[in-house]
Amino acid sequence: MRAAILHAVGNDKLDIRDDVTLAPVGPADVRVRIRATGVCHSDLSAMTGVLPQPVPLILGHEGAGEVVEVGEHVTSVKPGDHVVISWRPACQECDLCVGGQPFLCMKYVIESFSKGNFRLGDGSTVFGMAGCGTWAEEIVVPWQGAIKIDDDVSWEAAALIGCGITTGVGAALNTAKVRPGSTVAVVGCGGVGLAVIQGARISGARTILAVDPLASKHELARKVGATHAVTPEQVPDALNELTAGGGFDYAFEVVGKSATIQSTWQLARQGGDVIVVGAGAMDDMVSISAFSLLFEGKNLLSSLYGEADVRHDFPYFAKLHKSGLLDLESMISSRIRLTDLNDAVAALKGGEVLRQIVLMD
Ligand SMILES: NC(=O)c1ccc[n+]([C@@H]2O[C@H](COP(=O)([O-])OP(=O)(O)OC[C@H]3O[C@@H](n4cnc5c(N)ncnc54)[C@H](O)[C@@H]3O)[C@@H](O)[C@H]2O)c1
Ligand SMILES: [Zn+2]
Ligand SMILES: [Zn+2]
Repeated sequence: MRAAILHAVGNDKLDIRDDVTLAPVGPADVRVRIRATGVCHSDLSAMTGVLPQPVPLILGHEGAGEVVEVGEHVTSVKPGDHVVISWRPACQECDLCVGGQPFLCMKYVIESFSKGNFRLGDGSTVFGMAGCGTWAEEIVVPWQGAIKIDDDVSWEAAALIGCGITTGVGAALNTAKVRPGSTVAVVGCGGVGLAVIQGARISGARTILAVDPLASKHELARKVGATHAVTPEQVPDALNELTAGGGFDYAFEVVGKSATIQSTWQLARQGGDVIVVGAGAMDDMVSISAFSLLFEGKNLLSSLYGEADVRHDFPYFAKLHKSGLLDLESMISSRIRLTDLNDAVAALKGGEVLRQIVLMD
């Protein structure tokens, strides 16, 4: 089968080849034929080393497809079922899972660094990003990584729910629990930032400020729910105009850099919430004064994978979409083929694109 492989961290080109095969399906595994998969900034960050991953690596973690085979112990799905891939399968047994934080489960993260489920023609092992690797025509994942959704959810909508939507909408609904009538600022308006904006709109925020240096993103941000959109240079004026200088109830960082985390911190009001959604590098240190940390009373929150329990939230976000509350069409800037992935990665680096969705044959 065909797949897009990163041979070494730092390479800017993927090797798109058709001699890739899969490891046998284990008793608790599911084999999925990928039907749609998105290009998320985290894929780019795996290529550059910002997010550490083993190589050779098949990228892609935002995807959906059809179950083609299940191991003998699997009862959650059966061949023919439509599933969204979870890039953070939860073991459902560890303290974190049982304690209600399945998005922090480490079991399969650790396993993904030693167990690769792909093989090349010469028999060598290839890893899958976050243990999945959806930039392949088929993948093998633990059963907890394949979540059933209704058959009438389109493949591209299902793929978006696999990362960007769940991360962004979940950050607003699950992490911040945005209150009706509140004020929200969102720094970074890529696919994930736009999903945060949608989550804030669904929650009934009265003011939603979108911040992005690219003017092309402002229009899209307004389309999905932002009430105002500005460049970083215009932020001080917006802060004065919209909050009388006091700051926003919630400020989301959706870029993944220390500099933007620091500026997002400045956007929150005293006692407000600062939610880090962007995925930054291990050595990119954030500087916030000890004085500010205590006396401003702000809450610094992290939101990994929208703090979702994907068993509930994937079907829930699909319902929000079906009911017209979640606009997924506006999140897609192009539909492409697997062979276009090198161009897609280059376009994402350029910043102008939103979600580019690979549709498989
Ligand atoms: N928390 C999670 O679980 C999770 C999941 C998925 C992605 N992410 C991370 O979220 C971040 C966003 O992902 P994406 O796919 O939306 O990325 P993207 O590349 O599509 O969008 C990033 C946006 O940030 C904007 N930007 C750049 N510099 C800025 C600045 N100084 N101020 C404001 N905006 C700025 C860019 O113009 C772009 O529109 C990435 O770091 C990604 O790795 C986190
Ligand atoms: Zn992602
Ligand atoms: Zn667990």
